[in-house]
Order: sequence, then C-alpha cells, then structure tokens
Amino acid sequence: MRNRKEGAQRRAFGAPNEKQRQFFEAKSRFVAYGGARGGGKSWAVRKKASLLAVRYPGIRMLLLRRSMPELRENHILPLMTELHGIATYRETDKAFGFANGSRLRFGYCDSERDVLQYQGQEFDVIFMDEATQFSYFQFSTLKACLRGANHFPKRMYLTCNPGGVGHEWVKRLFVRREYLPGENPADYTFIPARVYDNRALLDCDPGYVSMLENLPGDLKRAWLEGDWEIFAGQYFTEFREDVHVAEPFAIPAHWRRYVALDYGLDMLAGYWIALDERGRAWVYREAYESGLIVSQAARKIREMSGGERIDAYLAPPDLWNRRQDTGKSAAELFGEQGVFLQKAENDRVQGWYGLKEWLRPYRGEEGMTARLKIFSGCRNLIRCLPALQHDPHNPNDCAGEPHELTHGPDALRYFAGARPAPAAGPHAKRAELPPALRTEEKMEGEWLTW
Ligand SMILES: Nc1ncnc2c1ncn2[C@@H]1O[C@H](COP(=O)(O)OP(=O)(O)OP(=O)(O)O)[C@@H](O)[C@H]1O
Ligand SMILES: [Mg+2]
Repeated sequence: MRNRKEGAQRRAFGAPNEKQRQFFEAKSRFVAYGGARGGGKSWAVRKKASLLAVRYPGIRMLLLRRSMPELRENHILPLMTELHGIATYRETDKAFGFANGSRLRFGYCDSERDVLQYQGQEFDVIFMDEATQFSYFQFSTLKACLRGANHFPKRMYLTCNPGGVGHEWVKRLFVRREYLPGENPADYTFIPARVYDNRALLDCDPGYVSMLENLPGDLKRAWLEGDWEIFAGQYFTEFREDVHVAEPFAIPAHWRRYVALDYGLDMLAGYWIALDERGRAWVYREAYESGLIVSQAARKIREMSGGERIDAYLAPPDLWNRRQDTGKSAAELFGEQGVFLQKAENDRVQGWYGLKEWLRPYRGEEGMTARLKIFSGCRNLIRCLPALQHDPHNPNDCAGEPHELTHGPDALRYFAGARPAPAAGPHAKRAELPPALRTEEKMEGEWLTW
C-alpha cells in the first residue's frame, strides 16, 4: 500500500528542467518565472503546489488565473490526474484537500473587483499564473492575503509572459528591478524561461516551437525571446502604475476642474480632472456605469460633481445629433439636467497623441513622474488605459476591440484634445480660458458656466 502511494507521488511529480529546478528552489517572498511562452511555467506551478502540500501538512494555498476556463484547462483537470490517490478535488470548494490537512484552492479574477473576495483571507502561498493578466491593484490586494501565524513559508509565485494589463508592474519589480519605498529588492527573484528550456515540449511538439519562431517581429521577440521592451500591441506604452497612479488628496479650491465624458447606453464613463498651477492634471473621480438613459447619465454627472465649480464638461460631438424619437440631442437632455456640455475635438489620432504627451514619464524633482496623474480610485481607467491595443489596420489609432476598454480612454482623449488651462494662483483672478475651451455658441437657452 505504502509503495503504491509513493509510486503515485513520484509519477505525479516528474522531473523538472533546469529553470524549473531554480523555480522550485527559490526562497524569496516573490518569485516570478517566465518571460517567454512554453517554458513549462504552468507545469512548474502545479508541481510546486503539490510539493508544498505534501511537505507542509496543513498549508493553505491559492492558485489564480484570470478566468475560470483557463484555470480548469490548465490546472484543475491536469491536477485531477496528477493528484489521483493523493488529494481529492471538491467542486463546491474549488479546492483539493490533502490527507495531511493541506489545501489548494483555486480562484479567478475576471473583473477588477473579483479580487476583493479574497480581502481579509489568509494564505501561506499564492500562485498567480499569467500574472501579467492581472492589474497592479489585484496584485496588491492579493499580496495582503499572504500571511498567517504559523511557520509555513509565505510566498507568492508568479508566472508571466510579456504583454497584458500587468506588463508594467511585473517588468518593474522583476525585470527592471526599480523599487519604491517599502519594497525590499531581496524579496524579488526572477527566473527567465524560454521554450528551449522545455525538453519535453521540444521532443513531443516541435511544431509549437516553429510556430513561435515564425511569429511576426514584435510578438516573436516577446513570446520566443522573452523581450520585455516589447509589449506586442500596447498603445500607451508610457503608462506605468508607479508613475501615473496617485493616492487621493483634497483638491485645492482654486484649481480648475473639468469633466470629460463619453456616453452610450452601454457605458457612461466620466472623469473629473483638476489642473494645478504647474499645469499638471489630476484625474480625481470616475463615473463608470452601464445601462443609464441620457437623463439618468446627466443626473449622475451632476450629482457626482457635488456642487463643485466645473470649468467645462467635455463630450464627443455625436451627442449633438438629434434623436429621432424626441427630436432632441443628448447634449440638450444633459442641459435640461443642468449639465451644459462643450463639444470636444474628435480627431482620434490627434487626441491619442495628445494623451501620450500628457502621460509621457519624465524625471522630476521627486523621481519619475508625468503631467497626468490618476487617483487610485479611478479603477476602470487604470485598468483600461494600459490594456488598449493598436488598431491593426491603422497603427496610429487605438483598436476598438475589446470595446469595453475604450470608454474610459475615449473620455480622457476629449480632455487631452481640449488643451485645458492650468490653475491661476490661489488669490489670482481667474485667467482667460484658452480658445479651445471658450464657448462659441450660446446653447439653446443656457450659457456655459464660466
Ligand atoms: N518537466 C516537464 N516534464 C514533462 N512535461 C513538461 C515539463 N515541463 C513542461 N512540460 C509540458 O510542456 C508543455 C508546456 O508547458 P506549460 O504549459 O507548463 O508551459 P507554459 O510556460 O506555462 O506555457 P505558456 O507560456 O503557453 O503558458 C505542457 O504540455 C507541459 O505539460
Ligand atoms: Mg502557462
């Protein structure tokens, strides 16, 4: 009986390649493994989790992928075979229970907020497979779950390929190794992997390697060579969470405030943006809601402005189209709710280029910074901006797909295209507005607010 069990365990663990061995032996708090496709990362994650479960009776572990189907295909189904006779899977708990009390739970974070379900929970070890598919917010939330009053190792194992919404934070921590106050460089280990490390795959599936070798330029450099300088397809390569995301503070009363919005029934995306005296923009509030009819959207924007003095509400020109049913335009309906819209420039490429200028990181007095900063509460903008891709037919433009990613960046583009003015000093009279923001027409019955 004992021999049969040991035999099953040996079969389940198999033999690691050299990089996988380094991954198994790494002892720092955060271990990232990857850089290129097919090196055997997911395999190593499954094995490491199984080894830890057997070695530390009672250990609690969490294994995450971005979506449930990926989790099932890549991990749950293979582990059902590999752990047959060693651990039992319970679908209701989404977890393997080991006879020694160890537990390996599975989770996914389809949407940004899914990660909040783990807040307050404790795990000794967390695996994030394809960590570049997770945002920095998700990583930070999960990092806080890594704790427990026991002597088990506390570690987070990440696997990663270049590209994806998490490209920048993974690259900063593990590849560029640039650390913020409070981050200890010794906590971070990176083990580069390439498909050529994976003998098992080279032998069984040479076609996979030649597929990687024949990819077009950027994608080949990213997926075959693990080049982090390339993020195949990302439009706003200048976006970095450590540079552009700021903790909220109270906006001084004399700063100019703008609201830039994009409206459709599928999504209202609105951003409140304050300009300081140095001309830096702070995106300090976000409205992001689907299914609102025009009057509801307008009311929402008005209510969220909370009586603040807004210099201009910028919106795309198509909101001035008259609707067949009422004969009124969305802009008029907004006006009826006291939100007087200003037509924004709608040249897409010029708008994106403008936004790139706002986002361009530069070295300031306090380290790397940018002219546009986003308060950490504006979650959807922080998620969507770095995920936007180039339009494959017009590389100067952003792709319209996935459509859900476009709403927030579109709204910000209307702001960038408007050349907004910085705040005057706290006691100065308000400066003349630049022509782009001056109202040129009196909208039926209402004046813009300045
Ligand atoms: N040490 C090993 N022994 C036997 N098979 C292995 C080993 N390492 C990896 N494999 C197999 O090689 C294939 C690719 O491995 P895996 O899926 O882990 O790669 P990956 O780096 O996660 O790939 P991707 O970048 O696409 O996510 C899988 O079929 C896996 O089972
Ligand atoms: Mg994998």
